[in-house]
Amino acid sequence: MIARVQITDSQLPGSVFVPMHWTEQYANRGRMGALVNAVVDPISNQPESKHTPVRIKAYQPAWQGFILSRRELNMIAPDYWVKIKGEQYYRYELAGITLPENWREWAQKNLCDSDGGTPQWQEYQDSGRGNYRAARIVNNQLESIVSIATESALPERNWLTGLFAKTQLEKAERMALLTGRPPVGVADVGTIVCACFNVGEKTIQAAIKEKGLKTHQEVGRCLKAGTNCGSCVPEIKALL
Ligand code: FES
Repeated sequence: MIARVQITDSQLPGSVFVPMHWTEQYANRGRMGALVNAVVDPISNQPESKHTPVRIKAYQPAWQGFILSRRELNMIAPDYWVKIKGEQYYRYELAGITLPENWREWAQKNLCDSDGGTPQWQEYQDSGRGNYRAARIVNNQLESIVSIATESALPERNWLTGLFAKTQLEKAERMALLTGRPPVGVADVGTIVCACFNVGEKTIQAAIKEKGLKTHQEVGRCLKAGTNCGSCVPEIKALL
């Protein structure tokens, strides 16, 4: 299993907690059921989920990246991928031990599908710093974008994910796509808190302050954040 680690004082020393709800539909190496001892309780048939020895070590990939795509993709399996469904897009967080020989070929195999319209391709590569970015635009809408880094940090996803809600890209947005940052004068919404409605931390903080919101229900009525799956409600409460 490959998973992102959160280090917290609330975990008992010497033990780890891993959610059991992931299937191979959402993460290729995220299924903890594969690790649990093949022994069940003789009466209830419960597996030994709380009684399995574990050993953990750092996973050190040669590259990390993400893809945002308007349609669901058939991934050319890297070592690690996780899929997150957002509003009008899928987000894939990726990592791999081996570097593809040609990033353009890799990106085009993953992103280019017959989706009608007239696709346009934007691309940027800095081999020295190990960065590769490409975007695919169809009928002036963002269809997909990929960002790969081997040494430097990846751009934030929040402004890019918001572009999938737009029916037409502005010229300044198209020009800024591969930077991953909004053009000058466009507000930064901050880290996305509510993935269902693409609502960022800064947007929530501003609404709390300006409108005097006191509860997560009030935030939901104002911004829709937290009103679908509800998994962002603890984060909204923390911001309140
Ligand atoms: S993440 Fe689902 S409602 Fe916010």
